[in-house]
Amino acid sequence: MLNNHWNIQAAELLRISPVIPVVVIDSLADALPIAQALAAGGIRIMEITLRTPCALAAIQQLREQMPKMVIGAGTVLSEQQLQDVVAAGAQFAVSPGAPLSLLTAAWQGTIPFLPGIANSTDILNAMALGYRQFKFFPAEALGGVPMLKALAGPFAEIEFCATGGITPVNFESYLQLPQVPCVGGSWLTASAQVSRQDWQGIRANCLALARSEV
Ligand code: 3PG
Repeated sequence: MLNNHWNIQAAELLRISPVIPVVVIDSLADALPIAQALAAGGIRIMEITLRTPCALAAIQQLREQMPKMVIGAGTVLSEQQLQDVVAAGAQFAVSPGAPLSLLTAAWQGTIPFLPGIANSTDILNAMALGYRQFKFFPAEALGGVPMLKALAGPFAEIEFCATGGITPVNFESYLQLPQVPCVGGSWLTASAQVSRQDWQGIRANCLALARSEV
């Protein structure tokens, strides 16, 4: 396997929490209360998607104000965005896809990168560069647990964070697969809860995970 210079390896990243919240921040003022609600619920990692104009500012702010939270960036679609999230202080980066340009740039960078894969060819292309951990996206639409079981045959050493369509009802079925150390999902910070600033509700979503003994 080729070496990278990431400050932590992706295998370790995927073991920080069984669920990585995928967070959309529409208003910068919501960033801190969302992160605090997650932390109060026992979650110490979050992925902030680059889908809103304040995403980079939110990453920067939370890196300063929540030093114990591992803050990553999601929806990284280009090398420029990868540079931007690193500059903002992101500690990991996630993409829905795995274009060669992004794979190459991220492998040479300093933070772990989780490329999104959808099939065997995606995995083989990234494996050739050294990647072993992936985002399986969009998990449910691609066939979910049966698809991951099928991929485990030829790709025994590969690990996945399953994301896309993961819910409080189905997440444990993913985590039962040995090649799935964690899943990602937006349900912990549901947009309806964020809109009404229901920080206690977000905390409760996280505490419910602990009760499911994942
Ligand atoms: C995403 O990148 O949108 C994540 O996969 C979240 O998907 P979800 O909203 O279905 O959890």
